[in-house]
Amino acid sequence: MEVEKIDYPQFFDLVSRRYSCRGYDDAPVSREMLMAIVETGRLAQSACNRQPWKFLVIDTPELREQVTKCYEREWAREARAFIVALGNSSEAWVRPCDGHNGMDVDVAIACENMCLAAASLGLGACWIGNFDVETLRCTLDIPAEWSPVAIISIGYPKPSQVVPEKKRKNIDEVVKWGKF
Ligand SMILES: Cc1cc2nc3c(=O)[nH]c(=O)nc-3n(C[C@H](O)[C@H](O)[C@H](O)COP(=O)(O)O)c2cc1C
Repeated sequence: MEVEKIDYPQFFDLVSRRYSCRGYDDAPVSREMLMAIVETGRLAQSACNRQPWKFLVIDTPELREQVTKCYEREWAREARAFIVALGNSSEAWVRPCDGHNGMDVDVAIACENMCLAAASLGLGACWIGNFDVETLRCTLDIPAEWSPVAIISIGYPKPSQVVPEKKRKNIDEVVKWGKF
């Protein structure tokens, strides 16, 4: 039987085209665009629907400059905006059998929605995890109960930006039908 693929081709195309963009041009990104992106973070699924997240949208030159001090890369300075995704473990669902806290997973889902949303709008984005947590906390007045999980840099890709080849493991290496 043919599997009915209504929106799948478009969705697959979006997922395939999304890449970590590390070169942005000068064009500003409107607040309307940024709102459209964070809206997809807000709509993300989360364990027990706890939504243990907040998103700081950073688009002023002063704050952008300060955020780049927490992740010192030349390309990051070109970003026109950053979304700092925060998670609160005490708001997240905890798995009773082993005490595993779902905060990181929940915030990650919201972040991926936002990266895909940026790609769908023709913007480039990069998930940044390798930032200086304490510097970011001080810079943005993040209270102790909120943990910065990711910074997402956003901007229009530089025209010279080469879209990197997708390097992924083969499907046979990562998918098994049935037992491990
Ligand atoms: C949790 C996480 C942390 C990441 N941290 C960084 C980072 O600090 N700096 C960076 O340049 N890219 C970072 N990336 C981007 C990955 O390097 C990138 O997604 C991966 O190499 C696959 O490439 P692609 O996104 O272009 O498909 C991160 C991605 C994830 C999901």
